[in-house]
Amino acid sequence: MSTKIVVANWKMHKTFAAGLQLAQDITQAQQANPRPNVQIVLLPSFLHLEAIGRLIAGTDNLYLGAQHCHDQAAGAFTGAISVPMLASVGVRFVLVGHSEHRQHGGDDESLMAKQVDAVLAHGLQPILCCGEPARCQSQQQALDFVQRQLDAVLAQVTADAVHELIVAYEPGWAIGTQDTPDPAVLESLCQAIRHNLVRRYGTVVGEAIPLLYGGSCQPAYASTLAAATSVDGVLVGRASLTPGTFMEIVAAMTTT
Ligand code: PGA
Repeated sequence: MSTKIVVANWKMHKTFAAGLQLAQDITQAQQANPRPNVQIVLLPSFLHLEAIGRLIAGTDNLYLGAQHCHDQAAGAFTGAISVPMLASVGVRFVLVGHSEHRQHGGDDESLMAKQVDAVLAHGLQPILCCGEPARCQSQQQALDFVQRQLDAVLAQVTADAVHELIVAYEPGWAIGTQDTPDPAVLESLCQAIRHNLVRRYGTVVGEAIPLLYGGSCQPAYASTLAAATSVDGVLVGRASLTPGTFMEIVAAMTTT
């Protein structure tokens, strides 16, 4: 039974108190029914990190992650948060290249590669997002787009610790829309990404890099993915804001 990863991307949701409550509910659910073969990663706002890090400390398979980071370790970058700062409050995972950041934050491939390098250099795990923004006319077009997008970042990554990388396929048209890819189509896309990783890093590393799916993931879809695809986990936005729904997704990913 392989370990799955379920990531909760809270985006810009929850006030401080509401975020703590949500983290508390998830922690209690995990403590009441520990699932040894699922790693749960919470990505709250930066504001919440330190307090939620304390709250979840000691709960098995529950980890802290950040939604973004700066590529530099320190400096005159007003409003930015560096990887060493994140590490200092217990963050273990950092999202890089989320489509909302590509679209609104202006992150380009060379910056994303530097962010991946910075995260790896400090011993944390980057979750590198990719995915076509709009539905393509053919599956091949989507595949070509995603491969180009991944290659553009990975070709510039220089860190040795690439075995710590996690890749998340998130088609832009599925994020926040209630639309999801046909599982068979998703599976062939994941296989192509897997071949790409194996070509680039060799069989041992390429086969071991977790490959997640994200975009309108709800419990029923998570069950389908667990049964019908080789995805190693899911990146959950909206459905992660309700503890019961989120834990149903965790349960769905546990059943394989
Ligand atoms: P969604 O978001 O589940 O609300 O579609 C997923 C994401 O953006 O990571």
